[in-house]
Amino acid sequence: MDTIIEPFRIKTVEPIRMTSALERADILQAANYNLFSIASRDVLIDLLTDSGTGAMSTAQWAAIMQGDESYAGSPSFDRFQAAIQNLFPFEHIIPTHQGRAAEAILFSILGGAGKTIPSNTHFDTTRGNIEATGAEAVDLVIAEGKDPQNPHPFKGNMDVRALDNYLSDNRGKVPCVMLTVTNNAGGGQPVSLANIHATRDMAKKHGLPFIIDACRFAENAWFIKLREPGQQDRSIPDIVRDMFEGADAMTMSAKKDAFANIGGWLAVNDPELAEKARTRLILTEGFPTYGGLAGRDLDAIAQGLTEIVDEDYLRYRVAVNEYIGNRLEEMGVPIVKPVGGHAVFIDARSFLPHIPPLQYPGQTMSCEMYRLAGVRACEIGTVMFGRKPDGTEVPAAMDLVRLAIPRRTYTQSHADYMLERIESIVENKDNLRGMRIVWEAPAMRHFTAKFAPIGE
Ligand code: F0G
Repeated sequence: MDTIIEPFRIKTVEPIRMTSALERADILQAANYNLFSIASRDVLIDLLTDSGTGAMSTAQWAAIMQGDESYAGSPSFDRFQAAIQNLFPFEHIIPTHQGRAAEAILFSILGGAGKTIPSNTHFDTTRGNIEATGAEAVDLVIAEGKDPQNPHPFKGNMDVRALDNYLSDNRGKVPCVMLTVTNNAGGGQPVSLANIHATRDMAKKHGLPFIIDACRFAENAWFIKLREPGQQDRSIPDIVRDMFEGADAMTMSAKKDAFANIGGWLAVNDPELAEKARTRLILTEGFPTYGGLAGRDLDAIAQGLTEIVDEDYLRYRVAVNEYIGNRLEEMGVPIVKPVGGHAVFIDARSFLPHIPPLQYPGQTMSCEMYRLAGVRACEIGTVMFGRKPDGTEVPAAMDLVRLAIPRRTYTQSHADYMLERIESIVENKDNLRGMRIVWEAPAMRHFTAKFAPIGE
């Protein structure tokens, strides 16, 4: 593969505090083997999330100085709104402090007991906000999307036939159809343009609004350009506009594909829905021209939206993940294929077959990566999903470790260093022991659970 260089120069740096594997072993023990309990100064390469952790550009920092902090009628809002409407066909733009606030507002209006909302795969905050209203969240991704080894180019696609049946069977109970691009919970997998349109048309056939969770819209558009027949000569903004053609609303976290450290929005066309959303916004977020944000954040987002659709950036973005994924495969570490837009997922259950799911192979792998490499990754498996509401514990569908790559933040030598260290994990993998949970919270246990290695 030809080397694809980082398409930026470094103007400001943030020092990393060097630590040794010995120090990190102590830090890990003091944190009860939960990486969420480790201070960021004790982490060399932080791959916990790609959300809000990216680097802003010189133009974004300059835009921040233009921020107008007026309570009402700030020109920062005008720039924010214009940048969004330049890419997305929505009439009403409602700023929020992050993506989940847009979801909370939307579902406080559309949700409620007895309702059910289908998507390809709801992200966990989306699911949480739907369920908090008493409604049900249903995932209808295609079968290929659930098979880690299947090389299907658009594993985020909605199973449109299943959607049709679902909408017929649940007439009167479904307030809208959602689609998440890219499908984060399914491995950062894209949705094809044809499937986006087919999902939209199916929603329309049943007389329902079609709403896109657009967090990683630019990465999704890039995959369409790369992989979907006939899309190669189109510009990214052109593909983005096509993806949203005929959509009724979008929820967005500007912490992803808007290059911001905070922010989000809800955009809708229906004036009645917009009115209800703004009323709710004023109660929970702020006045409609700033939502939960400072004026300067609105300007950083407006500028970020012009940068995220740059093809040199997107080519580099996806190449980084492919580079890491290919090297992992070469050294015998199984990954979810093809690699997604924002993260590489290690299949820890296949990598550590001697560790049963209820001894948490994903958690074991994440801890070992921290100890040996100082890398903080995230278990997405039995620790996160294994505890059921009735109190029983069952293996999750997969035991994965997510390496989420912050945007424009690390260089190739960070990746090479991490890969070298993972190679030494491969050599010693049979000696790794699983973990047990010594304490857990009644819900969302992965954030605060305390672990111990088996045998200690
Ligand atoms: N939708 C998707 C697909 C997401 O990935 C996220 C956040 C949200 C909604 C919520 O946005 O964090 O701004 O409130 N994903 C982050 C992650 C947290 O690490 O994947 P938010």
